[in-house]
Amino acid sequence: MAKDITKPDFSVIFDLLQAFRWSKTMFAAVSLGVFDALTNGALSLEILAQRLKANPDALGRLLDGCVGLQLLDCDDRGYRNTPAAAAYLCLKSPLSVASYVNYSNTFYWKLWANLEDAVLEGTNRWKQSFGWEDNIFTNVFRTEEAKREFTLAMHGYGLMTSPEAVAAFDLSRFRRFVDVGGATGHLVIAACERYPNMQGVVFDLKEVVPLAREVVGASNVAGRIKVVAGDFFVDPLPPADIYGLGRILHDWPEEKIAKLLTKMCDGLPPGGGVLIMEKLIHEDRRGPVWALMQSLNMLTLMEGKERTLSEYETLFRRAGFSEVYGSRNSTPLDAVLALKAG
Ligand SMILES: C[S@@+](CC[C@H](N)C(=O)[O-])C[C@H]1O[C@@H](n2cnc3c(N)ncnc32)[C@H](O)[C@@H]1O
Repeated sequence: MAKDITKPDFSVIFDLLQAFRWSKTMFAAVSLGVFDALTNGALSLEILAQRLKANPDALGRLLDGCVGLQLLDCDDRGYRNTPAAAAYLCLKSPLSVASYVNYSNTFYWKLWANLEDAVLEGTNRWKQSFGWEDNIFTNVFRTEEAKREFTLAMHGYGLMTSPEAVAAFDLSRFRRFVDVGGATGHLVIAACERYPNMQGVVFDLKEVVPLAREVVGASNVAGRIKVVAGDFFVDPLPPADIYGLGRILHDWPEEKIAKLLTKMCDGLPPGGGVLIMEKLIHEDRRGPVWALMQSLNMLTLMEGKERTLSEYETLFRRAGFSEVYGSRNSTPLDAVLALKAG
């Protein structure tokens, strides 16, 4: 008789074997415009195949895959968006992360294909994947379309996270909030919306300024926010009593962060602050999985990584800040506030 061998649970392996197929199914459906085509309600497979100029049998498999992944529902009238797909995967939805999905499909997907080499060499994969030198910012500013896609990708995520970040601490005593590397300015917009006495600045590279002006101009705090072009490593920063850094520090290595934070600390008045928005890795480095994966993403993409609160605290204290507070939340990004001695 065969020995009764206890087998460990296979499900974790099975799920991970499939996970890239789940992601790519969503990426392809967004990229082909499936969810946008269903914005006004259900459509049959035949009509969708005509509109998207797709092979009907193959499109049917993609749509069924999306039903399995809870992105579409299907009944007698055809396929329709689930509430999550309608909110997050349609380009024109105010909560859209479709640009981030497209960006993941066109860039991250290819950078991650070379993850093994990134781990062996400890460097990003732009050269290997696309033949391009330099970092993401030079690369995404190559074309108007890529720049818009990247910046709007950041924006979609930011809308989910910035309101929580500015509410994590009482910032009402601060009057001048400068969102450094602010892109579309969602962080400073959220700050000005929450704190009526605050004035704001978006400070970013000149290539980003037109889109920042467009988004800030359409916000309901447009009259309180200016957009200023500059390089945060080279140029003087606009004066502030609080600086915002949304997903900036995770792009860079310690030496460059030290330079930027020291410049901020030197320029702030006593009691001034820096609010950062990043996903914090737990002190024991066991999670959250999203932060651990994001740290690998930064490996393929940039020069930085995700960090624990105590790692950020060390960076802030070395730059001259005297108090550092962390606030975790359930959105994709947490908040950290550092204060200069009063
Ligand atoms: C990862 S994005 C984050 C954008 C935004 N803070 C957010 O959370 O959505 C990094 C931003 O930093 C800007 N950036 C990169 N290098 C910069 C530099 N040297 N000076 C100013 N801005 C820079 C980029 O243009 C981009 O908008």
